[in-house]
Amino acid sequence: MADGRIAVIGTGYVGLTSGACLASLGHDVVCGDVDPAKVESLKQGKVPILEDGLDDLVLAGIAGGNLEFVHGADAAVRGAKYIFLCLPTPDGGDGRADLRIVHQVVAQIGPLLDAGSIIITKSTVPVGTAQEITKTLGRSDVAVVSNPEFLQEGTAVRNFMNPDRVVVGSTDPAAAQAVAALYDKLGAPAVITSAESSELIKYASNAFLAMKLSFINSIAGLAEVVGADAAEIAHGMGFDDRIGPKFLRAGPGWGGSCFPKDTKALATIALDNGFPFPLLKATTDSNIDAQDRVADKVRDAAGGSLAGAKIALWGLTFKAGTDDLRDSPALEVAQRLALEGAVLYGYDPTVTADLPRRHGYPPVAAAPDPYAAAEGAAVIVLLTEWPEFGDIDLAKVAELAAGRTIVDARNLLDPVAVATAGFRLVPQGRPAG
Ligand code: UGA
Repeated sequence: MADGRIAVIGTGYVGLTSGACLASLGHDVVCGDVDPAKVESLKQGKVPILEDGLDDLVLAGIAGGNLEFVHGADAAVRGAKYIFLCLPTPDGGDGRADLRIVHQVVAQIGPLLDAGSIIITKSTVPVGTAQEITKTLGRSDVAVVSNPEFLQEGTAVRNFMNPDRVVVGSTDPAAAQAVAALYDKLGAPAVITSAESSELIKYASNAFLAMKLSFINSIAGLAEVVGADAAEIAHGMGFDDRIGPKFLRAGPGWGGSCFPKDTKALATIALDNGFPFPLLKATTDSNIDAQDRVADKVRDAAGGSLAGAKIALWGLTFKAGTDDLRDSPALEVAQRLALEGAVLYGYDPTVTADLPRRHGYPPVAAAPDPYAAAEGAAVIVLLTEWPEFGDIDLAKVAELAAGRTIVDARNLLDPVAVATAGFRLVPQGRPAG
């Protein structure tokens, strides 16, 4: 066990998952957040996000006495040896990550830290941030370490407890080793690097995965034209160890709070350093094309015009297993349809109210179930791979819908069941039947 308390600053999905998981490994953890209401509800074990297994871990940590929630970074860091920064690093609007919150917090907690303590960046931060933090901090007796997270929303607890690797980077090897030791119980390989490499490993990993997805989505588009099947192609490619079978599911484009932001941020890092990296722009551009292609299919199915057409959207979140709508490909497609005059009714198991127009959301009225969304719809488009969509009674849908086409952008529905119910299926990555 670590010979020191852990402070986690920020209880978003990274901070809360990391804090609860570190506590479950036996460490003493105090999580601090600026939002007093959130802290109060966390103290009662109420987890504000949908994350499989997290509620149980939070409750167990509170009951075990080694997971605590406090208001403010100051209260969290007092007496702590390890200070994990799990703060938002949003897109600053110019592709660069906005680090103002990180630096504000470092300036705030700097004078309060014990000598020998270690600040650890867990949020995704640009190359050079560890050095910048060291400057903001202005203390030679406090080490700064980069320890990026590789958690997927929806499976974050599982990812934390079963990591492929633990990456730790610093100019201070002893501090890096001490941070790596916090994860010893997990038995994962520790990759100790410079801070710059560690910071770049995170961006490189996300951008690479985004590129892999853009690649298979482009193959899917090509397959539709030449009469091939992207799922068969991915299966055939995936047996090659050098390629691997994961992240080759074609869909309506990739999204979420990380891939779009991090791919753009890496492109900007390259640009700022005078290094041409055209693959990154192509990765993002291909993603826009993938979203356009789904909108094209819906327009075609609606007879060539979306003006006034009622469209049912099945799924709104950026993937299944999360309630996160940030940069959701489903909403990107919805936006395209709305701009052409479509009237949108959406059903998503995690969305109970009409989408608020703030955040630039498209106008989607929330339906209580997939059937209500489909009532009178000219076209139904499945956008998020919620497994429950596989159980929909398509015969009942056929009685309710006005049109006879389902665009399945995730290839989730059973083609035979769709045809039996009297619908024409427009699948992803293979020609429509
Ligand atoms: C991603 C990374 O996968 C994590 O490793 C990383 O830690 C995290 O970002 C982060 O930086 O915090 P996440 O945003 O939760 O995790 O989303 P993913 O599960 O990677 O999915 C991203 C998008 O790709 C989703 O829109 C998903 O539907 C899509 N996707 C994924 C596909 O279309 N096909 C696939 O085969 C896999």
